[in-house]
Amino acid sequence: MFISLEGVDGSGKSTQARLLVEALGEGTVAIREPGGTDAAERIRELLADPGFEIDPFAELLLFSAARADLVSRVIRPALEAGKVVVADRFADSSVAYQGGARGLGTSHVLSLTDTVIDGLWPDQTLLLKVEPEVGLGRAESDDRFEAEGLELQRAVAEAYEEIAIVASDRVVVIDATGSVEEVHERVMEAVNGARK
Ligand code: TMP
Repeated sequence: MFISLEGVDGSGKSTQARLLVEALGEGTVAIREPGGTDAAERIRELLADPGFEIDPFAELLLFSAARADLVSRVIRPALEAGKVVVADRFADSSVAYQGGARGLGTSHVLSLTDTVIDGLWPDQTLLLKVEPEVGLGRAESDDRFEAEGLELQRAVAEAYEEIAIVASDRVVVIDATGSVEEVHERVMEAVNGARK
């Protein structure tokens, strides 16, 4: 089974991904995007640098290159070996950030991303929902996207709303307000529901 967690910056998805991996136990493969392979980690460093300037389509291609490497070398082999894969961000992040917020168009990015991942969409996507203001207030790092402020995060949130409707067969919206434990309970409820 392949599960991804998505949300605006500061939605708490990294904490929730870690708790989910712990709860699912041994044999669960944890990945975070961009990253997870040597090439993808190097691309991550480049993309996170606040001083890095790049054309939006070129930016999408960098995320896509990292993702293609991760899918073919880590995610697909793990799933074929019967493992559960938990991804802290995946393809929907490109649809929301590059397609929505950067203005490349959500349907355009969706179809390109489908090619990049060779149709390997998650079985379940947990969309952690907090107001962008709240997320930005609690975001810990100061990467390029967070540094761009509230307007970008609002556009990202709007794109995620659209994704939740278009891909309602796999996307579950989770209220990410409240304590870490409360949100974890909601996450486990959704995951256990899907595994039945
Ligand atoms: P993080 O929040 O997991 O550290 O992700 C790094 C940043 O990269 C975050 O601000 C979202 C952004 N991002 C994209 O813009 N497109 C993508 O495809 C992915 C995976 C992340």
